[in-house]
Amino acid sequence: MNEILDAILAPDTTSADFAALPLPESYRAVTVHKDEAEMFDGLTTREKDPRKSLHLDDVPVPELGPGEALVAVMASSVNYNSVWTSIFEPVSTFAFLERYGKLSPLTKRHDLPYHVIGSDLAGVVLRTGPGVNAWHPGDEVVAHCLSVELESADGHNDTMLDPEQRIWGFETNFGGLAEIALVKSNQLMPKPKHLSWEEAAAPGLVNSTAYRQLVSGNGAGMKQGDNVLIWGASGGLGSYATQFALAGGANPICVVSSPQKAEICRAMGAEAIIDRTAEDYRFWKDEHTQDPKEWKRFGKRIRELTGGEDIDIVFEHPGRETFGASVYVTRKGGTITTCASTSGYMHEYDNRYLWMSLKRIIGSHFANYREAWEANRLIAKGKIHPTLSKTYSLEETGQAAYDVHRNLHQGKVGVLALAPGEGMGVRDEETRAQHIDAINRFRNI
Ligand SMILES: NC(=O)c1ccc[n+]([C@@H]2O[C@H](COP(=O)([O-])OP(=O)(O)OC[C@H]3O[C@@H](n4cnc5c(N)ncnc54)[C@H](OP(=O)(O)O)[C@@H]3O)[C@@H](O)[C@H]2O)c1
Repeated sequence: MNEILDAILAPDTTSADFAALPLPESYRAVTVHKDEAEMFDGLTTREKDPRKSLHLDDVPVPELGPGEALVAVMASSVNYNSVWTSIFEPVSTFAFLERYGKLSPLTKRHDLPYHVIGSDLAGVVLRTGPGVNAWHPGDEVVAHCLSVELESADGHNDTMLDPEQRIWGFETNFGGLAEIALVKSNQLMPKPKHLSWEEAAAPGLVNSTAYRQLVSGNGAGMKQGDNVLIWGASGGLGSYATQFALAGGANPICVVSSPQKAEICRAMGAEAIIDRTAEDYRFWKDEHTQDPKEWKRFGKRIRELTGGEDIDIVFEHPGRETFGASVYVTRKGGTITTCASTSGYMHEYDNRYLWMSLKRIIGSHFANYREAWEANRLIAKGKIHPTLSKTYSLEETGQAAYDVHRNLHQGKVGVLALAPGEGMGVRDEETRAQHIDAINRFRNI
């Protein structure tokens, strides 16, 4: 592995040099273990501790198949799916790996007693499999997490609709929280040159998801002037949704839970901010009963911030706790777009407010190939910036996932894999200098 790292750090390593580097037999990877999938049985979600279930193991380098690439991972990031994996909720990810393993002799490789997790990476291509022509050893890349087979016509217009659609590093093995990752070559995209490895790895999954959910015609199709209610506006998804709203001429109404998080939203350029803790919204009276009076109080507050207007688009992901309020505060003809249910997936809302006011609920999930490419392009052009607040080592991934699970983090949390330190891998200092304040916005809290 040292030889690989030396080659990456040296300024003059050629593609042929990279291709000639011997691959190690094993690499260090963050895993969960199949024989521990029941370890948290009987505990509440909050009590389940990722530090206990995430391991750093030496695992064999997987065999490279057609259309695939092995990538030396310089940095990765923690996504909420790493939290779900580590607490084995809502199901153990080994069920995904077993199912994938049944598809073909090639996918059988994924069905192992350990799961290498992680759905983001920035790094360097080491090897490409047969049929890969666009990428070469030595290319500096990021990878999006859409894994598809595309053998069915269902996914030919929108690759997210492929019946064999999976999230790499969550529903497949050999993910990015490791020194080496296995990806399909169509997941690869150029690494934004003005960013360090850990900054380039941070936006991937959440940036692409927010792009489809909010901007793309497959999601809410946001337009200039729209009032966009963004839950968790300084969190992983929300910090990109807020930037998309601002960059697209919309008006974000940012919901956060502390003055510190409100300050970050202000630093991004948002003006309308609701601190849900300070204003103490209680949308549920008890576990089974919502309180429409609280929806109304929330709607009134939104009107105060918008000069009397209601919400065109709700960027939803908290789920059960907020969904009733989200449907209520949306304007006639408006859209609630949802990609998650962090607080519970059995949503409850008053359907009269939906049908009588001709509102739409749109389900959204990650992003198709093209949307992921567009989202990365905006990062590379310096129109949207990483929201990295803190970086951990591979050994500390359990702690990083714990912080995200407990909502102790801001924006995105990075993980250094092979990169020996932060700030390395920048190839375009001039562009970086233009955007340095925005790049560091989440660091300075
Ligand atoms: N379908 C997909 O493709 C996809 C992609 C990415 C993420 N997701 C899912 O989306 C969810 C959020 O992901 P993320 O990366 O943005 O996580 P995150 O970084 O933890 O941010 C989520 C934010 O939502 C807010 N929040 C959490 N619980 C809430 C509640 N009960 N009521 C109101 N606000 C609440 C919190 O902000 P405040 O405390 O400041 O309000 C939190 O910071 C996760 O469930 C994740 O699995 C889905």
